[in-house]
Amino acid sequence: MTKIRRGFQKIEPISAPPENKGFGIKKPSLILPKGVQSTEPEPELPEDLDLSAMGKPDPKAVPEQFARAFPPLSMPPWRSDQNPSVKCPETNGDELVDINPFPYLFKAKYDFNFENIQEKIETDIKRSKTLVQQNSISTPEKDGGTTTVLLIGSEINGERYTAPHEWPELEHFINEWVPANIKKIWKAWNFCSMSVPYISESWVNEHPYASFTEGHTHRRSQISLSCYLKVPEDSGRFMVRDPMDAYTYSQPVAYDYHPTGKEWRYIDVEDGDVLFFPGYLHHMTERSLSKENRYIMSINISSLDINTPQGFDRGIYKPMWVPDQS
Ligand SMILES: [Fe+2]
Repeated sequence: MTKIRRGFQKIEPISAPPENKGFGIKKPSLILPKGVQSTEPEPELPEDLDLSAMGKPDPKAVPEQFARAFPPLSMPPWRSDQNPSVKCPETNGDELVDINPFPYLFKAKYDFNFENIQEKIETDIKRSKTLVQQNSISTPEKDGGTTTVLLIGSEINGERYTAPHEWPELEHFINEWVPANIKKIWKAWNFCSMSVPYISESWVNEHPYASFTEGHTHRRSQISLSCYLKVPEDSGRFMVRDPMDAYTYSQPVAYDYHPTGKEWRYIDVEDGDVLFFPGYLHHMTERSLSKENRYIMSINISSLDINTPQGFDRGIYKPMWVPDQS
């Protein structure tokens, strides 16, 4: 009888490798020492599989159900016609071009017709200023900047506060332009189609001379939008921190890398620009050096699994708790 030392479990040797479903080939999973013969039977090959195709595969020879599957090892799939190539600029001579295969920041353009919403914005900014002064609230808007984010969920003159995304003046932007672009990003990031986006919050920021928005992220927002409603000259750029910054702490970056803010990049913005980025992305604005006010609208897009409400209603999913709303 084999003695097993305390603390160790007896491990039965593997008599047969786990079934390899890929291409119907049963292949031993153990690498045997030199000179040792395997007692495993020769792998059975499917009748319609051409072995010569294994060296230089003919995609058509691969059964459809396996063609696009990623094998368990780091092997490319047999067919990848559904995976488009990353857009790559042409290279000339000694030029070194930048390719970004995992984009996280997008930019588009929309004519907001600022004059149409200016009055509503100024009214909300005034309300926010009063709220901040009366309650000594601290917001990410510094040195004179104001945000209407404080008004979300409030009641004004007995009515529920309507955030910018509910304003009829922005109907086309909110109901057509934004969903069309979000759809593209949903696809680019391979988000689940059952996960349905919706606008969870929107607000406006006002930046007078010398003010800025301090560094922050957008909690629970899958995609955040910075919409540049009015951008006077020299009113500051959008700043974004390298989302891979944590890795630079083990990289041979220059000694002044973090003290001089090398992890930040500066994005030029102008009237009508709309930036899209994930809510986890750390960002801020430069100080405005313009005598005119800069106005930005922010939108947070969250998502809900389309099955969730029905699942709760039909008892398929059981909520772990019911939030206390007192
Ligand atoms: Fe922000």
